[in-house]
Amino acid sequence: MTDRDIWSTDGVQIAPSILAANFAELGRDIAAAERGGADLIHIDVMDGLFVPNITIGQPVVRAIKRIATRPLDVHLMIEDPDRYVDDFVSAGANMLSVHLEATPHLHRTIAHIKSLGAKAGAVINPSTPVSALVEIASVLDFVLVMSVNPGFAGQAFIRHGLDKVRRVREVLTQAGSSARIEIDGGIDATNAVEAVAAGASILVAGHAIFGGSDPEAATRALRSAVGSAART
Ligand code: DX5
Ligand code: ZN
Repeated sequence: MTDRDIWSTDGVQIAPSILAANFAELGRDIAAAERGGADLIHIDVMDGLFVPNITIGQPVVRAIKRIATRPLDVHLMIEDPDRYVDDFVSAGANMLSVHLEATPHLHRTIAHIKSLGAKAGAVINPSTPVSALVEIASVLDFVLVMSVNPGFAGQAFIRHGLDKVRRVREVLTQAGSSARIEIDGGIDATNAVEAVAAGASILVAGHAIFGGSDPEAATRALRSAVGSAART
């Protein structure tokens, strides 16, 4: 999978978060989401330190890489992510994002991720000001705006995230950047259109896709909720 494949569409991309899937049936659930039209597979890596939960490591990413037909979007919610950037890219991450709050030398980290051939993203928590992105905006491939406090699937959407997406778009425009904006947390068919209108072009969804019994239909429903909206 080349970078060009990841960004080949101008449309909105749906990124099911497997955090809400059945881990004992991960291959089955990923295949269902792909049949439903998933563009990316979002993988949440948590270390029990940066966030109060422990989830997935490189061996699982490597196993998913063997069965997924879509690019892997790996979201690192770990302390000192520099320690593991190489490992996750070699395990198969096509997109790799690190939290601004966990990364003191973000410019160097982003450059390193790009040098490994993956798309590099910076993530901001709900309490992190958008202004923290100003100095780094021009080198980012994407920004991930958290619309929940990271750690768990199935939390309530924080509507303030929409306003932050709008302001991230302004920061990126001012920096002359065409970076994409991804939004993650509490996204479902009721708020997806607003997220796209605000400027997001990658929608992560966990509970909305894997919380019911039919991830294929749920992926299709989310896709049809946003229609063929083009990214801003
Ligand atoms: C939360 C994760 C999200 C989460 C999304 O820390 O980053 O990717 O799995 O799940 P929902 O869509 O259920 O909020
Ligand atoms: Zn995530």
